Amino acid sequence: MTPHLQATATQLVFGVGNPDADIVFVGEAPGKNEDLQGEPFVGAAGKFLNEMLSSIGLQRQDIYISNIVKYRPPDNRDPTPEEIAEFKPYLLKQIAVIRPKLVVFLGRHSMNVFLPELKISQAHGQPIRKDGQVYLPLFHPAAALYNGAMRQTLLDDFRLIPAILKKYLTNFGIISNLYST
Ligand code: URA
Repeated sequence: MTPHLQATATQLVFGVGNPDADIVFVGEAPGKNEDLQGEPFVGAAGKFLNEMLSSIGLQRQDIYISNIVKYRPPDNRDPTPEEIAEFKPYLLKQIAVIRPKLVVFLGRHSMNVFLPELKISQAHGQPIRKDGQVYLPLFHPAAALYNGAMRQTLLDDFRLIPAILKKYLTNFGIISNLYST
């Protein structure tokens, strides 16, 4: 059995941001910088995330951000299904108390917790409503850091967010599985 992540991590990285946010972002698990600072997305991927947020007029304090798994896996390995299952109830509670209009998945791991049947290569950039919650799967910013095409796709997908929120707010539009403009 793998040792519990708490044994190797520096600290719990629970989540930060506005508890009244319209958007909750969900990443995979803390990396090295996040483990040291106790905050999600503060490393290179976080810097890119901040850039994308500001490209649509948002700042970190406007959103809430967390990860599925709250302790750093050693050597940044993928979280195991058992680790994801252990932390899932906390993520569900975070979303339940914040009641965001939109949950954005950063990468396939977080998407597959909620939408296990989807492939990120096909699902990215397409809002989906399931059980009354609107979700937007995106590529993980770390995957896009050194891949120019993916980076552009992520920027393009990010720009859909204001329109998705607007449609949601006016209660007009997203009633089927796929959203089209
Ligand atoms: N990658 C993640 O998925 N989460 C973080 O908090 C940082 C990097």
